[in-house]
Amino acid sequence: MLEDKILVLDFGSQYTQLIARRVRENNVYSEIFPYNASLEKIRNFRPEGIILSGGPSSVYGKDAPIPDLKIFDLGVPILGICYGMQLMAHMLGGKVAKAAKREYGRAELIIDDNSDLFNGIAQPSAPNAERTVVWMSHGDRIEKYPAGFTPMAHTENSPVAAMANKKRRFYALQFHPEVVHTEKGREIIRNFVFRICGSKPVWTMKSFIETAKKEIREKVGNQRVVCGISGGVDSSVTAVLVHEAIGDALTCIFVDNGVLRHDEAKKVEQMLKKSFRMKIKYVDSSERFLKKLKGVSDPEKKRKIIGNEFIRVFDEEAMKIKNVSFLAQGTLYPDVIESVSFKGPSATIKSHHNVGGLLKKMKLKLIEPLRELFKDEVRVLGHELGMPDEVINRHPFPGPGLAIRCISDITKTRLDILRKADVIVLEEIRAAGLYDKIWQVFAVLLPVKSVGVMGDERTYDNVIAVRAVTSVDGMTADWAKIPYDVLGKISNRIINEVKGVNRVVYDISSKPPSTIEWE
Ligand code: XMP
Repeated sequence: MLEDKILVLDFGSQYTQLIARRVRENNVYSEIFPYNASLEKIRNFRPEGIILSGGPSSVYGKDAPIPDLKIFDLGVPILGICYGMQLMAHMLGGKVAKAAKREYGRAELIIDDNSDLFNGIAQPSAPNAERTVVWMSHGDRIEKYPAGFTPMAHTENSPVAAMANKKRRFYALQFHPEVVHTEKGREIIRNFVFRICGSKPVWTMKSFIETAKKEIREKVGNQRVVCGISGGVDSSVTAVLVHEAIGDALTCIFVDNGVLRHDEAKKVEQMLKKSFRMKIKYVDSSERFLKKLKGVSDPEKKRKIIGNEFIRVFDEEAMKIKNVSFLAQGTLYPDVIESVSFKGPSATIKSHHNVGGLLKKMKLKLIEPLRELFKDEVRVLGHELGMPDEVINRHPFPGPGLAIRCISDITKTRLDILRKADVIVLEEIRAAGLYDKIWQVFAVLLPVKSVGVMGDERTYDNVIAVRAVTSVDGMTADWAKIPYDVLGKISNRIINEVKGVNRVVYDISSKPPSTIEWE
């Protein structure tokens, strides 16, 4: 069992996941528990240090999240961030009060004690050595130190921006070291993890792969595993990892639902078959799906039909394989963290195409080898497993696919138009070197016709909308500022090359209030 671990207790901060990722960047494993996790659960995890996240509450609020007081008796170092700091002060006998002025955003931190936590942050030789920029966000402040605590830093508005009880190895920061706006944030977290907690950097992707392979082998024994692949990063990496562990005892099933992008199925199949010599069952069910989707224009109905039909097809195919006892699935860590702050819209969106129904019906047990990983770590893992960048860096693609990008009714002709336009959008975005800077980019076929003129002829044809957004997690997004000449090229090519389209528009809406997809 991994010995070097840091626990993050979540008090509802939007940055909680970021804290765990920052710790992991140092090759030290970190998990997130909800603030009210039992002492027993925390003890069983055997953390070498605990970080108390920030959060929107005030310690004096009616529903303030308060952890078990005994965490302070575990004998492990604790770092409180923002709300975590106030909580520490409140629970350990200090005093917290409303700040005269809310402090939000950039602040200059003046370090008064540059030992341990701030070691190496203030460079004695540099001018203004004791100053560094930090990111604040709080409405409360410390009025009286808890017993044994001494100040470590202040800002103009916060007399206590950092404090510590070094004897007990308790540290607290009023600012957020986990965000990039805090200049030396990474160093502060590194100091906590290595200098204060004494953790060792043993959690590497190589060690992760070895452990995961061993666990998969032990769990599976001489049974067989089935894995549904979609072309997305998570399912492809899951399949390759499980294949590394058990070879041909894994069968992958690729269901073509008729609403995939152009050549998508072929490319993925080739990659997994040729480069990894995996067993893939390609099931062309496009006719079946399109028949069910005929005349359906309501987006939620489209989603339900595709989700249910997928389960049926997958079930039929998996039943044909003998001795199947396990279903491998690319569940990621953000999907399993038990915490209120993560139950954003994506949680419900994902339910549309999960295969939960399969488990009950087929009595399959789950294998989820990525359930400890964040998305960016899955990409590193894929890389380590020798997968091509084209797969690893692929944009997310929704389960219902082009069905929700072919607005209103879905027909083969309309899908063909959409596919051709979509290929051009992707080609030009790649050619301009923009693909990796964008979260998602795609074409949408609108249910309106517009008048145009081509040569001497009047046309009355379809409109394609181009959608491109930047985002970090898909929860919020901004429209991508694609240069005009690239947009111009996309528009020209679509109108010239795709029969049936005579107008292209660019979507300049952010999320919220719009969504990324049109349906
Ligand atoms: P929205 O449109 O809600 O999308 O801003 C946020 C992210 O979720 C994807 N998305 C889906 N993914 N099944 C999926 O697997 C769906 O039904 C679905 N709807 C939206 C969307 O592509 C974006 O990445």
